[in-house]
Amino acid sequence: MNEKLKIGLFGYGVVGQGLYDVLQSTPAFDATIDKIVVKEKKQRNLPDGMFFYSPDDILEDPDINVVVELIDNSEDAYRIVKKALKKGKSVVSANKKMLAEHLEEMVQLQKENNVSLLYEASACGSIPIIRSLEEYYDNDLLLSVTGILNGSSNYILSNVFDHNQSYEEALKEAQNLGFAESDPSFDVEGYDSLYKLIIITLHSFGAIVKPENVLTYGISNINEFDINYAREKRFKIKLVGQVERLHDQNISLFVLPRFVGKDKYIYSVEEEFNGVVVKGKAYDKQFMFGKGAGGHPTSSAVLSDITALAHNYKYEYKKLNYFKKFSYFKDGAVEIYLRYSDSAILKHFAFESISEEYKGPEYSYKIGFIKLSDLIKINRLLREMDIFIALTGKKLNY
Ligand code: HSE
Repeated sequence: MNEKLKIGLFGYGVVGQGLYDVLQSTPAFDATIDKIVVKEKKQRNLPDGMFFYSPDDILEDPDINVVVELIDNSEDAYRIVKKALKKGKSVVSANKKMLAEHLEEMVQLQKENNVSLLYEASACGSIPIIRSLEEYYDNDLLLSVTGILNGSSNYILSNVFDHNQSYEEALKEAQNLGFAESDPSFDVEGYDSLYKLIIITLHSFGAIVKPENVLTYGISNINEFDINYAREKRFKIKLVGQVERLHDQNISLFVLPRFVGKDKYIYSVEEEFNGVVVKGKAYDKQFMFGKGAGGHPTSSAVLSDITALAHNYKYEYKKLNYFKKFSYFKDGAVEIYLRYSDSAILKHFAFESISEEYKGPEYSYKIGFIKLSDLIKINRLLREMDIFIALTGKKLNY
């Protein structure tokens, strides 16, 4: 883009305000936020004249050449981003839900309108995972991407494990610090990690997978029994998203809590930090670590996208456009720990084998292999039952 960047910003929450601050600290970069569209009038730390209340105040303004979308509501975000792209404006978005649900259309809209949509901030806050997957891991050596993709749930697990805080207290803190989504069930039930994983999967393997087809289970049912079990075995429990290349051009993906030992890179990822392990042929494993939530860290990724636009950067979607297609394989078996109190729930679990079990007066558990596809079938039920499941890390039939 040879012209000066004139930004229309949607949303002035934690990340929007962070972006305003971060832009002030980079005076060498010639971009200005000219208008900010917000939902309602209220006292803010910028002059009233900066704020507008209708999306068209930005979308129909021919002087604005970049739209930065940092709002919470994914349906509004979808309408805004779609219209902006159709109007020939480049867009930076951090809305992982909107992106994950409309990836195919977003790729198409960029092509049809010859514009760029960048979204580094949508996955893992300040960690440049998307551009790295697109530009550095741009060959077929890549084997898997595994990571702690949600800062809030990691903040909770970290404080519960290391500081004996209660789950509720830790969640409240994550909300007060601005890490959690407005509906924190997105964080703790694994959906936030899922949306990020869907975006990562496109840039890793070129596959567009529908979120509703992916096994997604979070940490909201964890209890003292599970925590003590993990502590006794010297594990931590982390919420992990993973996409992995399998045999015959297949990939597998899921979001699940996992027992993690000291030998794993993600063992030491604490608080709101995210950590992503990229595994490949030849280079084995690499680890990216950084703040995954919070206004300033996330807005640093937004700023990086804005500066990339100044250099006419676009995602090429190399894996999607130039690589052999991958299919989504759901029939691999994973080993899980299933804690329960009422054995009636066991009828829902088609274990292929059991390696360990315990029956106690209050809680019992089983550890055994089960097919991902069998867990996907009961994904909704998993959240409703009085159980907790976590991966041990062992896999079969991959
Ligand atoms: N709620 C998200 C998290 C914000 O906790 O990671 C960053 O995407």
